[in-house]
Amino acid sequence: MAYTYEYFQTAADFLRTKIDFAPETGIVLGSCLGPFAQAIENPVTVDYADIPHFLLSTVASHAGKLIFGTVAGRKVVCMSGRFHSYEGYSFEELVIPIRVLKLLGIRAVILTNAAGAVNRDYRPGDVMVIKDHIKLNGDSPLRGPNVEDFGPRFFDMSRMYTPALRQLALDCAKGSPLRVHEGTYMFFPGPQFETPAEIRAARLLGADTVGMSTVTEALTAAHCGLPLLALSVVTNMAAGVLDRPLSAEEVDEAAEKIAGAFSDYMKQIVAAI
Ligand code: HPA
Repeated sequence: MAYTYEYFQTAADFLRTKIDFAPETGIVLGSCLGPFAQAIENPVTVDYADIPHFLLSTVASHAGKLIFGTVAGRKVVCMSGRFHSYEGYSFEELVIPIRVLKLLGIRAVILTNAAGAVNRDYRPGDVMVIKDHIKLNGDSPLRGPNVEDFGPRFFDMSRMYTPALRQLALDCAKGSPLRVHEGTYMFFPGPQFETPAEIRAARLLGADTVGMSTVTEALTAAHCGLPLLALSVVTNMAAGVLDRPLSAEEVDEAAEKIAGAFSDYMKQIVAAI
């Protein structure tokens, strides 16, 4: 499918009929990080299923709703539930949400994810501000005809995780009980967790965390020039770091445990942006 500017406009036009303000910041919530959504005041909720040309969440820990409202006095739009290539979506389809939010007028994006720690100094419950990523698997979401209205065919990625927003997130960490690092996220397509050998390779390549999301959205945001902050919540040590199998339950439980403190940290960041 070759997308046109009008394709995304259709979704944005529909959403504009539901709200009477332009959101300033777009936020994507990772697995089980939904509790932040409860902090949104005067929420207006739209099911993904009702938005023309949008996608549907198929993962149980992703709610599948767009929530508009106010956090710390700032107008936000929050995706409670995101889309992954492992659900069967093509990489090209994964541009849809961020482009629609861009058309709604957001001026910055915050992406969050649950991730496994490759870095042995990290532990579950830590947060990592993403300073760079490694994506050696899968296509680019920007493959196919370029939509020039969003951005150029070829574009720089050396500052895609906006340095000023990274610094802001590190500064906000000073008032937070969370341990916050800065590091490199490596994308794996999933849905299986990585093998211990893949994690050893990721460590050799310089990865600090691994996960199955975020990078497609980050690339879409970078392409259309949106300032970008991305945060990993460490839910587990990656495969083979500890001598025991990984489970989705371990990831969900850890994410639920940290969700409250993480939500407070996010509120501080939104207020400071
Ligand atoms: N690997 C990939 N994705 C993840 C992990 C992991 O260890 N933990 C949470 N999401």
